[in-house]
Amino acid sequence: MDPDTTLDTPALDVQQEATDTQYADEWWRSAVIYQIYPRSFADGNGDGMGDLAGIDMRLGSLHDLGVDAIWLSPFYTSPQRDGGYDVADYRDVDPRFGTLSDFDALLAHAHSLGLKVIVDLVPNHSSSDHVWFQEALAASPGSAERARYLFRNGKGPGGDEAPNNWESVFGGPAWTRVTEADGTPGQWYLHLFDSSQPDFDWTNRWVRDEFIGILRFWLDRGADGFRVDVAHGLVKAEGLPDWTAEDGAATTMSMGSALESDLLGHAQQDPATPPYWAQDGVHEIYREWHQVLAEYEGDRVLCAEAWVEPLARLARWVRDDEMHQAFNFSYLETSWSATALRRVIAASLEAFGDVGAPSTWVLSNHDVIRHATRLAMPGHGAQVTEAAVSDDQPDDAHELDEALEPVEDLDGTTTAASLTSPLASDHPTAPDPVLGLRRARAATTLMLALPGSAYLYQGEELGLPEVLDIPADRREDPVFFRTDGERMGRDGCRVPLPWAAESPAYGFSTTGESWLPQPDLWRELARDAQHGVPGSTLELYRATLAERSRRDMGTGTIEWLTDYGADVVAFVNNGVTVIANVGEFAVELPVGDVLLSSEALSEAALPTDTTVWLLVTPAE
Ligand code: NOJ
Repeated sequence: MDPDTTLDTPALDVQQEATDTQYADEWWRSAVIYQIYPRSFADGNGDGMGDLAGIDMRLGSLHDLGVDAIWLSPFYTSPQRDGGYDVADYRDVDPRFGTLSDFDALLAHAHSLGLKVIVDLVPNHSSSDHVWFQEALAASPGSAERARYLFRNGKGPGGDEAPNNWESVFGGPAWTRVTEADGTPGQWYLHLFDSSQPDFDWTNRWVRDEFIGILRFWLDRGADGFRVDVAHGLVKAEGLPDWTAEDGAATTMSMGSALESDLLGHAQQDPATPPYWAQDGVHEIYREWHQVLAEYEGDRVLCAEAWVEPLARLARWVRDDEMHQAFNFSYLETSWSATALRRVIAASLEAFGDVGAPSTWVLSNHDVIRHATRLAMPGHGAQVTEAAVSDDQPDDAHELDEALEPVEDLDGTTTAASLTSPLASDHPTAPDPVLGLRRARAATTLMLALPGSAYLYQGEELGLPEVLDIPADRREDPVFFRTDGERMGRDGCRVPLPWAAESPAYGFSTTGESWLPQPDLWRELARDAQHGVPGSTLELYRATLAERSRRDMGTGTIEWLTDYGADVVAFVNNGVTVIANVGEFAVELPVGDVLLSSEALSEAALPTDTTVWLLVTPAE
């Protein structure tokens, strides 16, 4: 028998015991958290850009959906050169999105509906428009103002060469040279992302104290926690040494190359760590923050956006005196393969369980290709993100062959499939949308059956696909521009939501404005076209969230079932039998009551790419 079908679950018993006792009121251990990307959720003032008033107006729909919390991507003062992840004032709201009073009103409204609110903290870098950076530019080398950031002299005659060979995650060099006050070419500053996002120097106590002040600012206003951007990047190796990846290893947050390495069988258990990621020094920062949050009532939380592998290493971010959660990107990147899914689920529960943390689960966010598209891409949707490292390997040579098969491009031409991210490719593929949606529904129905905390990304409850054909002159992601369009970037998962089929901009704005164009197809995917319609994706999400909550599956444990063959993922969680058929052939179902299913079931068989939850009738 395939060893992966006989997984045991020792770590789960530990988690169960803990859940029953000291963790009972820690809401975040089992919460379903809905990510709002404010630019694209709902526009309250008609300018084509989403805002806090728009979110407030639509909050009832999230309560109706059945989530426990919302996470707001950045709404702070920002020139928006990276969609708000370039913050110019950490203690204010950008006028595009509203005011601090709008935030307070939104928070109060959410709390009145029983929804927690997590805000985004961006501590690795600020915007170059931030007054701290402007003061640093105006000050001289060696000054206290420059010491807030990573300014260095260049190498070579005249300091004309960058201080080291690091590359930006968004493409191009990670260093930019400044002109000093006297007009001469001057020092260089580090930016792991866009040149408008200078990295802070976290060895500087001043920086640490400022961020503790920022944490307190939002905690005092009542925020329930923080999603921490680039939580693996704050501390850089001493001396900022040059670094060159080995062939096939990941060089930046863009992990297409890591997939290549995995698919070709070179996966490393503990891959070489670039001197700018996952340095041990980050942990003392989070221990300090943990103490700050612990002073506040009501279980405030920190969730790490840390692209770190393997899972056992990522678990260091959620030791009991550090953060509370970390996004499980290994899960997001797992291919649509039963073996790979069983493996990553077991590894996640074990790795997080070992440190007393809940596992999280996530399939989509504002940085990756929406899973309704990704899961129908060559290679079964594995590793098609801008930013991740995966533990996964293909099940067998067949899967690798499939990943390498030629694919048809949008313009009808056929090219070899890229093993790297489509975001890193100049040939976006257009996978079968019917297959993609079917798998996405099955994948979500599986994910929401797992114990721990799950993250949903706005629009996935409508089954929205990635938009692959946004014209170049409408795109905004710096990834697209820094690579001269070679990498598509992330605009395709950020297109404003369709709320009402027959309204201008599908109800996103009152005026019909939308900062990115919405495809015609979105009329039929609009929320009001799905609400109350049996079998719609929206109703599937609502039913699944309600059942998950009713049966306490978020705090449950799983017991693997091995009777259904190697191509299924099957387990029992709190009495609910969950079977996901990831294989090509229908699987016979046990006798019992079906609670819900990602596709309509016509007989006692589970078709391909379908997940069912049922109460099995005990044998006589
Ligand atoms: C991760 C965020 O999710 C992404 O959108 C952003 O571009 C980078 N961090 C840089 O802040």
